Amino acid sequence: MNRLEELRRRHEAAEQGGGEDRRARQHKEGKLSARERLSARERIELLLDESSFEELDKLVTHRCRDFGMDDQVIPGDGFVTGYGRIDGRLVYVFAQDFTVFGGSLSETNAQKICKIMDLALKTGSPVIGLNDSGGARIQEGVVSLAGYADIFLRNTLSSGVVPQISAIMGPCAGGAVYSPAITDFVFMVERTSYMFVTGPDVIKTVTHEDVTKEKLGGSMTHNSVSGVGHFIAPDDAECLRMIRELLGYLPQNNREDPPRRATNDPIDRMDAALDTIVPQESSLPYDMKDVIHRVVDEGQLFEVHEHWARNIVVGFARLDGRPVGIVANQPAFLAGCLDINSSVKGARFVRFCDAFNIPLLTFEDVPGFLPGTEQEFGGIIRHGAKLLYAFAEATVPKITVITRKAYGGAYCVMGSKHIRTDINLAWPSAEIAVMGPEGAVNIVYRRELSGTGIPACVHDQNAARQQKIEEFRERFANPFVAAERGYVDDVIEPHETRPRVIRALRMLENKVDSMPRKKHGNIPL
Ligand code: HXC
Repeated sequence: MNRLEELRRRHEAAEQGGGEDRRARQHKEGKLSARERLSARERIELLLDESSFEELDKLVTHRCRDFGMDDQVIPGDGFVTGYGRIDGRLVYVFAQDFTVFGGSLSETNAQKICKIMDLALKTGSPVIGLNDSGGARIQEGVVSLAGYADIFLRNTLSSGVVPQISAIMGPCAGGAVYSPAITDFVFMVERTSYMFVTGPDVIKTVTHEDVTKEKLGGSMTHNSVSGVGHFIAPDDAECLRMIRELLGYLPQNNREDPPRRATNDPIDRMDAALDTIVPQESSLPYDMKDVIHRVVDEGQLFEVHEHWARNIVVGFARLDGRPVGIVANQPAFLAGCLDINSSVKGARFVRFCDAFNIPLLTFEDVPGFLPGTEQEFGGIIRHGAKLLYAFAEATVPKITVITRKAYGGAYCVMGSKHIRTDINLAWPSAEIAVMGPEGAVNIVYRRELSGTGIPACVHDQNAARQQKIEEFRERFANPFVAAERGYVDDVIEPHETRPRVIRALRMLENKVDSMPRKKHGNIPL
């Protein structure tokens, strides 16, 4: 056979992967494979700009000679790796092909992944991993584990330098879950993807619990219960499209600014509906997403962690064509209280934005931290501190708009002036105080109102309490005390929020701020 034929034969073998039967099986499970090409390749094609993929290491083979592996050598060894373009911008990508030894990780395909990760770090470009794997290749033993550890190291070194995105498009079990977990965003596909450290069988043996794969580690479990997943897609194609959309908000690396995109949304657009969005009655909910949609370019919010810790909303949007990270309390869910999960969700997002030069816009309506033994025993002190720490250390441009409540410690945490927020604006409906009027009166006037003599009857006591509450509300539950001190820079009319925020962002365009020299901080993990 001449060399050219030999080359073609090897390429074809790499493209065939685990063969027709296995591709058909994968297809039956609902994954996108086996239309005409291999699933992993098809995914890469859908992800990248047309014909932009350059494959590396297509001819690499595994080196295992045990368990009859020497007669099962497939060029590429079931991982497709290389680089290409998304909207013309360079990205590195790997995709695991489940039809080749269950997409399991061999020594050689760990090296393939490490090769592109090293290139990504040197060239300052994102890495996208399309995971579909039975984990460590059992036949290779510790060599495969070493391969995982090599990848984990690179995930860690790349963290905060280049964006790292994981899509879980099949199984992801055992220690293999830790590579996606270190990356910045985890996408999952409904019904076909799952992640767990130990599977249902082991759980049954150890704890006698009966649980299905889906319940244990399916896409909704991780998107709504554990918070491991950031995004959920109905199928492979939508998952890949969402990854492209996400990248549109991100810079290539931590030395660049995120890409600006032309917008038809006027920067001076006012929105009268904002003037009535906050209900008169301060205990009534409203949807903070309505506020966000009305302020940002074309009403578009690319929400992160949409289904988890819904009392805080985080996501990407654009203002004046420039990406911003939105962090917003959600009064429509748990009254917008901060609890353990929302603190962790917010903190992680704030740190991502800060690492990648994405300005932060905070919408605040928070009655405080969620009370209760569950929260205290779970360590709300430690977890709430993460959000405080994240906001305080962030040096990107920071703007906060207080729409209604800003009470107690939560006032300090949610991008207050005191933790280096550049511009703090409040709506006239803002209530900025140590606590709500009812709680404050119950404490400050406890003795007076407890019925020790005066006023004599219950009716009078209630009237007296109500009067104190009104006095308190009048005196403290407003934005003006903070404005008099300069803790908010201005009290604005809600309809002018968009232009005011855009002007502030433009003013902050060349902001430089820094942290004291240190190896790294000690965020309360
Ligand atoms: C080698 C593997 C494999 C593996 C699957 N295969 N996992 N080969 N190493 N880890 C092969 C199977 O032998 C089979 O080959 C083919 O892939 C498809 O597997 P099936 O079991 O038929 O598929 P399915 O029924 O869909 O089940 C998928 C699965 C299951 C749930 C992922 O294969 C499974 O439980 N695999 C083992 C998972 C695991 O325990 N991995 C180690 C985790 S520990 P044929 O030839 O029949 O097609 C780990 C440590 C990482 O990964 C450590 C990092 C620190």
